[in-house]
Amino acid sequence: MRILTGIQPSGALHLGNYFGAMLPAIRLQNEGEAFYFIANYHSMTSLTDPRLRRQYTLDVALDFLACGLDPKRCVFWKQSDTPEHTELAWMLTTLTPMGLLERCHSYKDKVAKLADGDAGAVNHGIFAYPVLMAADILLYDTNIVPVGKDQKQHLEVTRDIAMKFNHVFGDTFVVPEPRIQESVAIVPGLDGQKMSKSYGNTIELFGEEKATRKKIMGIVMDSRTPAEPKPDADKNLAIQLLKLVAPAEVATDYENRLRAGGLGYGDLKKALFEHYWTYFAPARARRAELAANLDYVNQVLNEGAVRARAIAQKTLARAKVACGLD
Ligand code: ADP
Ligand code: TRP
Repeated sequence: MRILTGIQPSGALHLGNYFGAMLPAIRLQNEGEAFYFIANYHSMTSLTDPRLRRQYTLDVALDFLACGLDPKRCVFWKQSDTPEHTELAWMLTTLTPMGLLERCHSYKDKVAKLADGDAGAVNHGIFAYPVLMAADILLYDTNIVPVGKDQKQHLEVTRDIAMKFNHVFGDTFVVPEPRIQESVAIVPGLDGQKMSKSYGNTIELFGEEKATRKKIMGIVMDSRTPAEPKPDADKNLAIQLLKLVAPAEVATDYENRLRAGGLGYGDLKKALFEHYWTYFAPARARRAELAANLDYVNQVLNEGAVRARAIAQKTLARAKVACGLD
């Protein structure tokens, strides 16, 4: 079984990325052949600064390795080291109905934001993004794609494109399945919306201590007094996040105390910060070691690129034969 996922280097990674995509991917390393890449071509749809892209690319590499990606068990590389993705994307784009892309929520959200007066124009890359993503997945004969729920529709696009290609040009691609962890499908951000780099509402995995504490203590709650019982305790943002980073019985205890009344929001947020900080402490230490050994990190990525490329070239050649480009 082959497992593949990508993560964009478009900003510091956060709890949503971790619980939605990274942790499931790290767990799946032991269940098959894992292929994980840093989607730097994708990041071009939203980020132009080359220095920032380099920085974020390194950050993703450090974060993922620190959190438990094991280069002995998986292939880990930078997307731009396998340019076959863009060549296949062109071939796939000719089979992709415009309407399929026009219906994509992530594209529609970006257009809507623009209508709200967001700076910058919607570029063709944002529109064509799901086709590049399909190429990423199909090039590796992927069976399983661990992603957060927000990517479900993109996986459906990939499946549609794969089936269309197979229908038009003969059986060429494996049709992949998404693997979405329903329990943490969408991690909420500091403002209650989906946590996302592009919404500025994240709790970073490896944020600086003081700044992160300040962010967490700054979560806006309602004006009910501590003594008041809160029957909607399960909807409380801090409780939802606490459930991710604290042992289950601890989170349940806080939830019950909040529901019964008597627990203040300040104390709850303090607990959230402490548990968050402890949860990532071992990874934080590993990250510091890796950051002091960048030669090793680059070696991992380079070796990953060689292994990934050998497969990408084979699949691309097969697809080219299928459509008469050989
Ligand atoms: P962002 O929205 O911050 O830019 P990406 O689009 O780069 O994040 O997402 C990388 C991976 O992390 C994807 O698989 C995505 O589904 C997952 N992910 C991102 N945000 C969340 C979230 N809030 N909850 C669950 N998964 C998420
Ligand atoms: N589109 C994904 C995201 O924004 C990242 C991504 C790119 C990806 N290519 C992929 C995820 C292939 C899974 C498989 O989160």
